[in-house]
Amino acid sequence: MRTLRHCWHPVAYAHAITDAPCASMLLGEPLVLWRDANGRIRVLRDACVHRGTALSLGRVEAGEIVCPYHGWRYDTEGRCTRIPQLQEPGRVPPKARVDCFRAQEKHGLIWVALEEPRWELPQIPEFEDPKWKVVRTGPFAWNCDASRQLENFTDFGHFAFVHPGLLGDPAKPVVVPYTVEIEGPVVRYSYGRPDQKNTDSFPVFTEAERKDELRRTRYAIHLPFTLVEHIDWGDADGLVYLFVSQPVDEDHCIGYCLVARNYNFDQPDAVMQEFERTIFGQDQRIVESQRPSIVPFDAQAEMHLKFDAVAMSYRRATREQGLD
Ligand code: FES
Ligand SMILES: [Fe+2]
Repeated sequence: MRTLRHCWHPVAYAHAITDAPCASMLLGEPLVLWRDANGRIRVLRDACVHRGTALSLGRVEAGEIVCPYHGWRYDTEGRCTRIPQLQEPGRVPPKARVDCFRAQEKHGLIWVALEEPRWELPQIPEFEDPKWKVVRTGPFAWNCDASRQLENFTDFGHFAFVHPGLLGDPAKPVVVPYTVEIEGPVVRYSYGRPDQKNTDSFPVFTEAERKDELRRTRYAIHLPFTLVEHIDWGDADGLVYLFVSQPVDEDHCIGYCLVARNYNFDQPDAVMQEFERTIFGQDQRIVESQRPSIVPFDAQAEMHLKFDAVAMSYRRATREQGLD
């Protein structure tokens, strides 16, 4: 848990955060976030130093957050500036303060690191490029550890069983050989598989004339819980997925899945959103049933075969970086 505090994690979709306080939770730490007058994200520990009340139930006034219980006020750095019950409300004891955390806005998400972060966020040029359209899906709140939710997103052996007709063909369950590379905190692999045709309800994949019938996917897992996935069919059309899981606490996580595409710009966002809602719904009951609810990072735990090389590498890289 401690090492995870040194990583950036998502805590909300950026569009959802306004100048009103909003609650979130990261690694068991309650957070309150809002936008200051300049639109910048501010994040404090969501527990008043006086009686532990959630500041997120209060309001933001003149750039300060006001506790809903006795009206103590805090500035954007978490210093208490006023205690209305005092004869001299401005004479605040110095230890009246709450923790303040670093935050940034990137790829349509708000990210927080509770301690000095070890790694930068991945660059995703397509997300900044007007030739690509980004759709937000979810968020997907599950009752399991973020590691299980992330690992599910990296796994393609389950497609034929959990997503028949949508992502996989029950008649073609074989995983063709592939290789995985670990580069420090990044695990890379790519995979080509027979293309699954669009269904009538979810025409989310490109229908352009294709050079081949393979759907090629390049994956990069950025430890601990971020995955960037590039899909193409051998021509210019492409999809880029950013999936990242927020480690709320050991039994809860929230998945954010953003999908960029450079074709079918006219398609309403609802098509992709409904498609992912269906896919994540199929995965959820499976993943929430897994025991233990956190990925066991020990190489001896669970049974791995050759086609599980991604899971084995994810676990190894996690151990090597001391994140297990
Ligand atoms: S609990 Fe916040 S002011 Fe008393
Ligand atoms: Fe799945």
